[in-house]
Amino acid sequence: MGKDVIVACDFASAEAVFEFLDKFEGKKPFVKIGMELFYAAGPEIVREIKRRGHKIFLDLKLHDIPNTVKKSMAVLSGLDVDMTNLHASGTVRMMEAALEGLTRPDGTRPILIAVTQLTSTDQESMENDLLIKEPIDKVVMHYAANAKRAGLDGVVCSPLEAGTVHDTCGADFVTVTPGVRFADGDIGDQKRVMTPAEAKKIGSDYIVVGRPITAAADPVAAYERCVAEFVG
Ligand code: C5P
Repeated sequence: MGKDVIVACDFASAEAVFEFLDKFEGKKPFVKIGMELFYAAGPEIVREIKRRGHKIFLDLKLHDIPNTVKKSMAVLSGLDVDMTNLHASGTVRMMEAALEGLTRPDGTRPILIAVTQLTSTDQESMENDLLIKEPIDKVVMHYAANAKRAGLDGVVCSPLEAGTVHDTCGADFVTVTPGVRFADGDIGDQKRVMTPAEAKKIGSDYIVVGRPITAAADPVAAYERCVAEFVG
């Protein structure tokens, strides 16, 4: 699995994302499209970014009954995205159904990764709201193992968890890690962060970087710095 920097294009409109991507001229960064942009601009934004030659991680975090997820994944696969995701808490059966739906008639399919526990969920809210009493690290690794058992390719996780995920699920199991900041950068609302170089050292396969690139005075230079540190 090739290491790459995925740029989180958390913009509210198609105009804003194209204005951003136009700055890259000949370069074609791997792009993450999340719910905000997808709900604002619809599937056409995915087709247009694809036409421009970018790889796309469509971050819609599906979670529903297996049949609905299977059919929805078939639609996303038809959009020709390169990576997409779902919530591991939807159960192994839901993840297996997702893989079936995602697989194209020619046998190819986008990379499918699972969200374990959201980083916004802490031990207290997991115990009180979800009635899950186990330690959160154990829950995260159990969900990662479930994703592997269902045949998925990997998980979204903190760069701090990437090493343990590889130890538990194997070196080939993909880790996609947000929460990346430059050593001299502003951490914003992210709590547990790593630099691209540290994420590389710990074995992340893909880093997802938003504001350190999108809000930089020179986004192209910031992207290239990430690539140099992470892929290098
Ligand atoms: O701007 P920033 O680099 O913090 O953006 C990180 C991206 O990764 C955002 O799109 C955010 O929603 C996403 N993400 C995250 N933490 C997670 C899962 C996804 O920051 N646990």
